[in-house]
Amino acid sequence: MLKTSFLGVELENCLMNASGVYCMSKEELDELANSKAGAFVTKTATRDFRAGNPEPRYFDTALGSINSMGLPNNGFDYYLDYVLNRQLQGEELQFLSVTGMSYQENIELLKKIQESDYQGVTEFNLSCPNVPGKPQIAYDFELTEKLLTEVFTFFTKPLGVKLPPYFDIAHFDIMAGILNKFPLTYVNSINSVGNGLYIDLEKEEVVIKPKGGFGGIGGEYIKPTALANVRAFRQRLNEDIKIIGTGGVITGRDVFEHILCGADLVQVGTTLHKEGVGVFERLTRELEEIMKEKGYSNIEDFKGKLRELD
Ligand code: DHB
Repeated sequence: MLKTSFLGVELENCLMNASGVYCMSKEELDELANSKAGAFVTKTATRDFRAGNPEPRYFDTALGSINSMGLPNNGFDYYLDYVLNRQLQGEELQFLSVTGMSYQENIELLKKIQESDYQGVTEFNLSCPNVPGKPQIAYDFELTEKLLTEVFTFFTKPLGVKLPPYFDIAHFDIMAGILNKFPLTYVNSINSVGNGLYIDLEKEEVVIKPKGGFGGIGGEYIKPTALANVRAFRQRLNEDIKIIGTGGVITGRDVFEHILCGADLVQVGTTLHKEGVGVFERLTRELEEIMKEKGYSNIEDFKGKLRELD
């Protein structure tokens, strides 16, 4: 019932982890790959190992989470090695997330992927909000266009971009206009809502250490923003650019709503962190129940079919 295909590969369902959550080590990635999720994505890799920001740097709140991880990861070679190994074992579709700490590092990493034997998908993260002093690429429209222009002079493998949330209709128009110039496989909306602040009332104190407590917000708080971004990009992007919907997925209803807005795949971050990989089984069961109630037998029956008021 939930089977879906992506780049010609049939997946058991449309669910994945969101990059950053439970995908740092090979052991975690193995668990994801063996879970009920349809696919998985790695932690965003930078060229070199990074310890990330000082702890505490992730905090679960009643309605979601706040994090300022600062890109802790085992370095590009570790993740490339992992996906190449899985590929040798017959894995047909996997997602390798990468970002550079500089413009040139972005180019260097994508060249390494292009020159490698990796045949899977690359998720180019243009939206990490947590590295002090380093603005997100995707909030700089000119830089995004320049970077993608250079990338597509040499990159011919499947490439998606992970975007931050946009909040202004003009920004949806501008970003979609830029993205439509490139042969992108997909757009993933949204990354965490950057630089929120959560407070411990009793202590009158912030809850995470980096950046004075500012961090990316996930979970229930962000679903309306995530759905708006998925919907807005589905309405504006070329049909052949797929959409991954991320943000605010707690129940099967949330997955259903992302698909209704046009998501082809749906990623789970905060709730995966809270609940562990068992979340995928629960979400598939809940999504199936909603589809049965509504009389749908396939996700194509309602994908992108959100109705507007007359
Ligand atoms: C981190 C957070 C993000 O939202 C992201 O896209 C990449 C990295 C982090 O802080 O590690």
